[in-house]
Amino acid sequence: MGETAVLSILVLHGPNLNLLGKREPGVYGTTTLDDINAMLVQQAQELQVQITALQSNHEGALIDAIHAALGQHHGLVINPGAYTHTSVAIRDAIAAVELPTVEVHLSNVYRREAFRHHSYIAPVAIGQISGFGANSYRLGLQALVEHLRQS
Ligand code: DQA
Repeated sequence: MGETAVLSILVLHGPNLNLLGKREPGVYGTTTLDDINAMLVQQAQELQVQITALQSNHEGALIDAIHAALGQHHGLVINPGAYTHTSVAIRDAIAAVELPTVEVHLSNVYRREAFRHHSYIAPVAIGQISGFGANSYRLGLQALVEHLRQS
């Protein structure tokens, strides 16, 4: 990854996000994960960056993917799902690899149950986007790419 390398972004989707489209549509909408990934691929082409997307329901698999991103990707967009509110280990993985990270959520977690108001990830992220449905990912990718191009 030299100075002139095309920016490469890893997009990680955490637990239960494979069920988007049929999972609590009143909260998460009817857009499927495939729809979101297709939207991001299109956006990546427009931004002239590369993206790789991965979903897992397993904390360890997400941590392994974050470790493997080192030297392979320039930044991370992550929706950690419920692990947002529980996982010191995912937070530590992001801190360890020091990859610029944007945390995204489809729902506005601050309008929901109190247990969703705390994020273990936010302190190791550049920023957080929450509440714009599938557009949270689009805004997150745009913000990350602009951050990487400025730094
Ligand atoms: C979520 C919010 C989390 O609280 C929840 O556990 C999810 C999805 C969101 O995208 O709104 O699984 O990360």
